[in-house]
Amino acid sequence: MASTKTRSRASSNGTNGGQAKVSPQPRLGQSAPEMQRFGTLRTLPIGLPEKARVESCRILNVILSDSMVLAALYKKAHWNAAGPTFYQLHLLFDKHYEEQVELVDALAERVQMLGGISVGDPRHAAELTTIPRPPDGAEEVPVVLSRLLDAHETIIEKVRTGIDATEENKDLGTNDLLMGDVLRRHEMQVWFVAEHTVEMPLVDA
Ligand SMILES: [Fe+2]
Repeated sequence: MASTKTRSRASSNGTNGGQAKVSPQPRLGQSAPEMQRFGTLRTLPIGLPEKARVESCRILNVILSDSMVLAALYKKAHWNAAGPTFYQLHLLFDKHYEEQVELVDALAERVQMLGGISVGDPRHAAELTTIPRPPDGAEEVPVVLSRLLDAHETIIEKVRTGIDATEENKDLGTNDLLMGDVLRRHEMQVWFVAEHTVEMPLVDA
């Protein structure tokens, strides 16, 4: 039976015998079982025992999920900022959103480097996060600030636990990421947000 495929190669004499060589048609609607299930590990030659890699992937995926949620909280806060500090908060919230998105990428790629599968779908992240869902409407600025600070602390506590676990397991690459990039970025963002909750007269001391 003749092949229905259209990628027939040209014959050795340089002609194609009237057959199309390559089809420009994109191959649409393809499906297949997943190659690697979430929670399983591939083996990469990085000299780290499987136990350490499994534990790091689990820790990273939870922090990744929380970070995806926090990034979304910042975007929501960016859109719903209001009042006398609207402009500075509007800009600050977007800056923190961008920085959290960078951390999400770094955390996800660390999971992949360890041979795992990183959380990618926000609905998967929603199943793993412990950050409470905000109301769908708009809240007053002080409430939003408290919500953001609480979310940061939730993540920071998990990061500190992760730093201890990865140090114990000698997963120093993950340890460095959590301590150097993630923890310090969170502490910086907490400072910037928390200062907006200090009651301070604007004109008269
Ligand atoms: Fe914007």
